[in-house]
Amino acid sequence: MSKASVVLGCFYGDEGKGRTTDYLAQFAEVAVRATGGNNAGHTINVNGVKFAMRLIPSGILSNKTMAVIGNGVVLNPEVLIGEIKMLKEHDIDVDSHLKISDKAHVIFPYHCNMDVMLENKRANKIGTTKNGIGPAYCDKFERSGIRVEDMYKANFEEVLRHQIQVKNEQLAAAGEPICDEDAIVADYKEYAAILKPYVTDTVTLLHRYLKEDKYMVVEGAQATLLDIDFGSYPYVTSSNPTIGGILTGTGLSARDIGDVYGVIKAYSSRVGEGPYVTELKDEVGDRIRDLGHEYGTVTKRPRRCGWLDLVSLKYAIDINGVNYINLNHMDTIGQFDTFKACYAYEVNGVETQDFSTNEEFLNSAKPVYKEFEGNFGDISGCRTFEELPKAAQDYVNFIEEYTGCKVKLIGTGAERECMIVRE
Ligand code: IMO
Ligand code: MG
Repeated sequence: MSKASVVLGCFYGDEGKGRTTDYLAQFAEVAVRATGGNNAGHTINVNGVKFAMRLIPSGILSNKTMAVIGNGVVLNPEVLIGEIKMLKEHDIDVDSHLKISDKAHVIFPYHCNMDVMLENKRANKIGTTKNGIGPAYCDKFERSGIRVEDMYKANFEEVLRHQIQVKNEQLAAAGEPICDEDAIVADYKEYAAILKPYVTDTVTLLHRYLKEDKYMVVEGAQATLLDIDFGSYPYVTSSNPTIGGILTGTGLSARDIGDVYGVIKAYSSRVGEGPYVTELKDEVGDRIRDLGHEYGTVTKRPRRCGWLDLVSLKYAIDINGVNYINLNHMDTIGQFDTFKACYAYEVNGVETQDFSTNEEFLNSAKPVYKEFEGNFGDISGCRTFEELPKAAQDYVNFIEEYTGCKVKLIGTGAERECMIVRE
């Protein structure tokens, strides 16, 4: 029986997870999303076309891989339908390849309004994407959420109207804009009809695929340090984008998991608020942002940028059981004459390589850096590790020695084929 490969972000998101999935989708017959919603923004360049994927696993771009949206996802139907339309315009055969879990929770406009309301009230802002992710997961765990399958029940309109009224009361009390009940009901009946052909019991389906020995890739969204349990709480997202969330978000068992790919960039970035030990709030950080085009796929926000943080990488490897690293943006870091990576923190005068998400610890930690030679030249044509300049090889070797984890995939440019694969 086949085992599923998992692709996870090791830092604060936007590491290039979509590219890893897109690469593995050459071999994969199934690609799955397990957690998060349209707060994710995965950019993949295929033949000069830039695809910004938010809900559908990037694997669908291979035009032969089955794309499955798992039960752990919070699903905004309007965004999903927009994505389906966009893919169809690029001749992707969505109708043959998309499946949506009947158990995924649905995002409604009141979740987005609540997201804005909660953020306005917060003393310490999180900087959410305002896509209603937190409020939708709150409803799920509070047990008042509406799932995809509920949209096809006879009492759907009644349940939805009740839910809108409850939320409108809360919004009105906070002086926030309320939702148009009739408009939502009409829109969601339409969305439900459009999505119906794709809806199925994905738990049974995924296990059937595994029994049929189909190679499966699970595309993580968000990242380890945005995890509700293992991230820099409260500056996190409202789900478990780590390995546990992959299981609960799909129905796969621990025994069904094979390789775990941890995705990082040769530098680092973060969107939104919260601690960030290796952040560079200077012209070097600005230069990384410019060279790496570090602006949000979804919100277009400029990302905070800094050097790679190997201390937190080790933590991410431990939490997720990462056995392969995918190192992206080697072409970007190679444009610096010299660059750095953080291999320890100095906390109250003491050097440590142990990571903690304790806010005080992270805010007081000073990065201890090792400097590397840059000037890699144009490496976009390199297809083997040996073709890389020595300086680039040195950086990869250091990461491997430090983490004890194999760097299997190396991104050398934005295009799909700019990827070194090491056997
Ligand atoms: P991908 O999958 C980067 C961040 C937001 C905010 C916090 C909470 O593209 O890597 P939320 O809307 O989830 O309640 O926001 O999490 N965030 C991301 N940052 N990449 C993402 O996804 C993110 N998804 C959420 O910026 O700080
Ligand atoms: Mg993104």
